[in-house]
Amino acid sequence: MTKDRVLIFDTTLRDGEQSPGATMTHDEKLEIAELLDDMGVDIIEAGFPIASEGDFRAVHEIAKRSKNSTICGLARANFKDIERCAEAIRPAGSGRIHTFIGTSPLHRAIPNLTMDEMADRIHETVTHARNLCDNVQWSPMDATRTEWDYLCRVIEIAIKAGATTINIPDTVGYTAPMESADLIKRLIETVPGADDVIFATHCHNDLGMATANALAAVAGGARQIECTVNGLGERAGNTALEEVVMALKVRGDIMPFYTNVETTKLMNISRRVSTASGFPVQFNKAIVGKNAFSHESGIHQDGMLKNKETFEIMRPEDVGLAGTSLPLGKHSGRAALRAKLDSLGHSMADNQLNDLFVRFKDLADRKKEVFDDDIIALVTQNETVEDHLKLKSLRVVCGTEGPQTAELTLVVGGEEKSIKSNGDGPVDATFNAIKEIFPHGGRLQLYQVHAVTEGTDAQATVSVRLEEQGRIATGQSADTDTVVASAKAYLNAINRLIVRREKSAPGEDVKEINYKDI
Ligand code: KIV
Ligand code: ZN
Repeated sequence: MTKDRVLIFDTTLRDGEQSPGATMTHDEKLEIAELLDDMGVDIIEAGFPIASEGDFRAVHEIAKRSKNSTICGLARANFKDIERCAEAIRPAGSGRIHTFIGTSPLHRAIPNLTMDEMADRIHETVTHARNLCDNVQWSPMDATRTEWDYLCRVIEIAIKAGATTINIPDTVGYTAPMESADLIKRLIETVPGADDVIFATHCHNDLGMATANALAAVAGGARQIECTVNGLGERAGNTALEEVVMALKVRGDIMPFYTNVETTKLMNISRRVSTASGFPVQFNKAIVGKNAFSHESGIHQDGMLKNKETFEIMRPEDVGLAGTSLPLGKHSGRAALRAKLDSLGHSMADNQLNDLFVRFKDLADRKKEVFDDDIIALVTQNETVEDHLKLKSLRVVCGTEGPQTAELTLVVGGEEKSIKSNGDGPVDATFNAIKEIFPHGGRLQLYQVHAVTEGTDAQATVSVRLEEQGRIATGQSADTDTVVASAKAYLNAINRLIVRREKSAPGEDVKEINYKDI
């Protein structure tokens, strides 16, 4: 059976990062783009260059560094956005401008354009984009709620103006799989020039059907899937990259398509995106969830021992999960740590290894066995030299006899500051102490603790989400001491809030970008 190639267009750094609280730092974006490039993603949508100076810088730098992937930037339907986008992607070996406009009745009402005025705008802006770049993608936002005749009309205009990819977004996650397949099929049959372009599918997951809709669109004739790692994205998120890639791989018998993605790199990028965005991956998430390959019940374990295929349709190694391996301990040396890191897909330069080795020894002193997940938690600790706030020391007093207190020393912008505070429990006392040393308007929206491995000496991963004047930032950290992990996660969230403050004035966030300027 011959199989057709389906292009993978990853929008983790644009649609994913647009999700409230998922802000990533500049360095994190570069690292994730490098991983996507390395694993065979065809197109990386690296950001929305007009949205902020930070977005422009990230797209520009990713364009400079990309080796294999096409680097794409998003632009609304106006010349200023398109020119800024063209400038941002210029250094890429292969660059793409993705311009869009909301075509459904509800979206047309925002800029208050008639159907004819909008059609003219599409013609002008796609023509302008095409004059600046050979590779232009056009999207009718909310396509799945746009009148059929108008949708065909505007797609034809965009193709005639030079669009090379036509993306059909299900912006609000409203479509069902049979409609998704039928829509793409009918568009390809109906719109003049459709055979000369690639049709793409971009599905949101509001009804939990994004992956099914994307695959159905491929069956209908789409040859590009837009998706994000871990399904990150606004509201219920986007189609998950790892799900469509593995579905096409495992069910090639009924879906004769293939992608260029190296599936053994899925687990690693999932963890990196989770840490960078601060969004934990749900335990039962398909492909990359902690439980996706674990078999707890007796009957399952019995079946697995006899024949793995009894309960497994893909092998853990296929998605980058190493088989059971020996834990490290306090006698393990640098070479053992390096070998372990290599096996987990984290090759490191000598200076990075030295730093990690110190932290590994510290952990091994406190914990008898250091498992793979502990090592990954250590690697993904996201304290950086740019951090404004750092934890120096923390001592808490807790138990049945109150008051619970925290004695805390922070390094704030290079200067040490100490305080002792009370609270309703040790975590509350610690957060109060941080707030007294560094007053801020961040309101706690989420505080979540997970054990990384089994046992009472397990490391705890803590996630903290703060909201300040509409800006949201999520921090994460891990430590065998839950209160220390909590303090570090809280500081990480504040450090990200500070980055966010620099990125936008209140109310001027990427999410609040004004669609009247389509
Ligand atoms: O969901 C959507 O419609 C989008 C467009 C910008 C393509 O993300
Ligand atoms: Zn979207």
